[in-house]
Amino acid sequence: MSDQRPLLYLSRLLPDPVMAKIRERYRLVEEPGDLSPSPSSLQAGLREAVAAIVTLSERIDGDTLVGASRLRILANYAVGYNNVDLTAAHGRGVIVTNTPDVLTDATADLTWALLLATARRVVEGDALVRAGGWTGWTATQLLGVEVAGRTLGIIGMGRIGQAVAQRAAGFRMRVLYQARRPIPPPLSGTWELRTLSEVLRQADFISIHVPLTDTTRHLIGRAELALMRQTAVLINTARGPIVDEAALVEALQKRTLAGAGLDVYEEEPRIHPRLLVLPQVVLLPHLGSATWSARIQMGMICLQNIEAVLGGRPAPNAVNDSR
Ligand code: DGY
Repeated sequence: MSDQRPLLYLSRLLPDPVMAKIRERYRLVEEPGDLSPSPSSLQAGLREAVAAIVTLSERIDGDTLVGASRLRILANYAVGYNNVDLTAAHGRGVIVTNTPDVLTDATADLTWALLLATARRVVEGDALVRAGGWTGWTATQLLGVEVAGRTLGIIGMGRIGQAVAQRAAGFRMRVLYQARRPIPPPLSGTWELRTLSEVLRQADFISIHVPLTDTTRHLIGRAELALMRQTAVLINTARGPIVDEAALVEALQKRTLAGAGLDVYEEEPRIHPRLLVLPQVVLLPHLGSATWSARIQMGMICLQNIEAVLGGRPAPNAVNDSR
């Protein structure tokens, strides 16, 4: 009897429990690898499939979708979907979905890991010890900045921004945020809505949590960096192009900004060469959602959305609706 399972295109390998579910329910157009496919193989895969799971590294525009006449859903394995041209997908009747909520805590935790690591020079300390350069305690070695009681500035107060703000209560921090509308704080806290420039001028730590869109590309450029305190630290776990990386490097080199903790970059996986040599910067390889739990749940959400669309039901996490 012929295999009736729908044909799915999967751009990269996902964690084992997700792969097991995928293989149980779908036929794969081809075996995925660990790395992002070439544009031509991505396009060829999408032409075959009725459903696809793609990741943030795959750029999907009108050209990519040419010939994808059977494709009904693109399940983006990420909460951000700036890699997909929604209008092009809409034009072809393809539903696009994302994976909100399940990675909120993972990303907020990683934001704090970067903030603390940058403030307390954790990576420099680790490197010193491993290199055998530690000769014993001194009162002046690797002094960092205090986090507790300082002001945290949050740019973009969606799910992840709010989760980052909630964690600040444990550090008795004042929270200023920039958003389109006021967000009610938890019962025990006070969050203060400010303009972008006010947040930049007043905060000791500034964390970015807006999506990447045409409006937020280079939202933090030379002029915005110039507003920040000389002692401030910038954290970015959102999307690289929200910050003008060349301007950031310049501010860090001139020491008009004290430090940065970065998980995302303008041209991933390329890192600005001058960032690599600045000790006051902590660099991570886009690990925001990289916990077992988040990455497995992200896969399960993609599958739920695919099942809904192929079953003729609305996708729970549609970010465009092409019907
Ligand atoms: C997202 O979901 O947008 C993250 O960046 C993926 O790790």
